[in-house]
Amino acid sequence: MAIYLGFLFIGAVFYMRVQANLGVGSSQRPASRAPSYVYATLVLLVIFLGWSQTSQTTKVLNSHPIDLLAKNASVQSNAWLEQASKSQTLTEGVEEYRRRYQRNPPPGFDAWYNYAKSRLSVVMDDYDTIIEDLRPFWGLSPAQIRLLSRQVVSDPFNEVSELVVRNGSATLGPNFLPTHRWMLDGVLDLIKNFTQYLPDMDLAFNLNDEPRVAVPYRRLQELRDAGSGNHIKSSVSHNWGKDRAKTWLKPEDVEPTTFFKDHSRTNSFSIGSIACPPTSYAQRVHAWDASRLCTSCAAPHSNGVFLSNWTLSGSPCHQPDLRNLHGFYLSPAAFKPSHELLPIFSQSKVEGYADILYPSPWNYIDKVKYDANTSNNHPDPPFAEKENTLFWRGATSEGVSRRGSWKGMSRQRAVHLANNLTIDSRSPALLILLPHPSLPGKYAYQNLPSDPISALNLSLNISIVNGIARAWDNDGAAQDAEFGFAPQTDFQDHWRYRFLLDVDGAGYSGRFLAFLQSRSLPFRSGIFRAWWDGRLTAWQHFVPVDVRLHGLFSTLSYFMGAATPAGTIEGIMKEHLAAGEEIAEAGRLWAEKVLRKEDMEIYMFRLLLEWGRLTDDKRDEIGFMG
Ligand SMILES: *[C@@H]1O[C@H](CO)[C@@H](O)[C@H](O)[C@H]1NC(C)=O
Ligand SMILES: *[C@@H]1O[C@H](CO)[C@@H](O)[C@H](O)[C@H]1NC(C)=O
Ligand SMILES: *[C@@H]1O[C@H](CO)[C@@H](O)[C@H](O)[C@H]1NC(C)=O
Repeated sequence: MAIYLGFLFIGAVFYMRVQANLGVGSSQRPASRAPSYVYATLVLLVIFLGWSQTSQTTKVLNSHPIDLLAKNASVQSNAWLEQASKSQTLTEGVEEYRRRYQRNPPPGFDAWYNYAKSRLSVVMDDYDTIIEDLRPFWGLSPAQIRLLSRQVVSDPFNEVSELVVRNGSATLGPNFLPTHRWMLDGVLDLIKNFTQYLPDMDLAFNLNDEPRVAVPYRRLQELRDAGSGNHIKSSVSHNWGKDRAKTWLKPEDVEPTTFFKDHSRTNSFSIGSIACPPTSYAQRVHAWDASRLCTSCAAPHSNGVFLSNWTLSGSPCHQPDLRNLHGFYLSPAAFKPSHELLPIFSQSKVEGYADILYPSPWNYIDKVKYDANTSNNHPDPPFAEKENTLFWRGATSEGVSRRGSWKGMSRQRAVHLANNLTIDSRSPALLILLPHPSLPGKYAYQNLPSDPISALNLSLNISIVNGIARAWDNDGAAQDAEFGFAPQTDFQDHWRYRFLLDVDGAGYSGRFLAFLQSRSLPFRSGIFRAWWDGRLTAWQHFVPVDVRLHGLFSTLSYFMGAATPAGTIEGIMKEHLAAGEEIAEAGRLWAEKVLRKEDMEIYMFRLLLEWGRLTDDKRDEIGFMG
């Protein structure tokens, strides 16, 4: 029941308008590889949508979409929990594993189960993320996976480093970049309590923030098919294959090999969208006019301007316009991808990538930490006592700006939207959902004639810290001219504010976990997904925001409340303090339950047992029977 809007016309606002210059390098490229009929269809589609959307903007809504989204989210989240923790005993755990995943659990499952139980893991059964990440690897032989694991670390150019497990202890391989040592040390720390249960194996870790492996759709389907179906054996051995150590290759066994091409600082959208079905919007449309908001791209995961399906919103397949709306797509800083399936462990990825997710050492070793406390002047006051402001501080690190590509990056767009939005006679209409001017209790999209922030008295405190990072050519100077800057703040200052914005940087979010742990309400916009995304429910644990940011003001007005200085619009949006606090609290309590350090260990332990099995020559004959 998505409500389409006339925000087709406001697209330009959201692809930043800077002076009179709307042009951006990547959007000006003659990228049209799609046949002309595709464009003809598109134009028709756009006209049709534009027409139907404008007719919808006058529609009266009987309730606010966020009421409904939050209600559904709570049902969804309860249902998730129920299915995620069905088993009470090891025997039930084994049964549930077989039922869900159509295999016997891997060897060592009993040790894992005890480990998880003794650490009071809430999640005992739902490890779907692991199964899905590993599924394509059943299409490779164990020997192939082991060879690739050796090859990906054979050349420093690859920016992949290894960790070696032998006889129940783990060490770093020889090829790691000293700057990233903390990361592998963090992994060692993460696995130290259960390394003794792991079979001999080599693991290859991505040192970059950006994901690495995007397999073309058909090949990926083939590989995934090999990992699907019923593989339950009536009898399996609970021992790992013999002499596993010998089956892994030594550094001298392979020539330096690289599977990667350096695609840093170039538009990378089509590298990942290769994993989308050939019939998908993203595969059919190779260019998008960046100055227009693509309503049909947002529609499948939206309810009006509100994001209604977080999972789906991460998929590039229906969103060809994302190519110009995110730093990772526009101009990633360190991006070396491969189209071959490679065994690489990454801290986050964008949908379409086949990297294997693992819990970020960044969080595990507290690189950034929720550390509120009254004695150090950084309290975390109750929600109602916090400043009624949306707060963000950060760097322009989402990508490396060249030829104006910063205008599409989501961090820069957020800062621009909050501070530098200028609306004049040439500007398109800006629609915001507010109480209906004459029908009490009802809502309607309204067109604000002036700056919406002052018109609605919204409070945003959103700034780039210090100065511009990651800009080439004249893009540093251009951004200096556009943005104001704020000094560095203490991370623990965040808790003063009721609403915290988290916008993607170059990869996994280092701060989102801390935001969840606080009493503040996190607003999250982004395409990167981490190991925990399967455990979180948008609108129950956090507030999702579309990367296009076209719903930000409507969403904020709901929670923050909107005052209306006389004469602009009628109708006042009451703040939804209780609704906001409910989400903030649910997220906080949930993080305490399922995103503890113990939960990171438990996830990693299970992942590595699965990995041990996948790389075992006897993988179809071993397992835990219960
Ligand atoms: C979100 O979209 C996915 C993919 O289309 C679908 O499977 C899922 O059920 C949707 N979730 C909700 C809450 O609508
Ligand atoms: C953008 O907003 C910031 C913060 O208010 C301000 O310092 C800066 O000068 C503005 N830029 C322009 C071009 O007006
Ligand atoms: C506007 O917001 C500020 C706080 O951000 C508040 O002090 C002031 O009362 C508000 N104005 C109106 C008219 O509500």
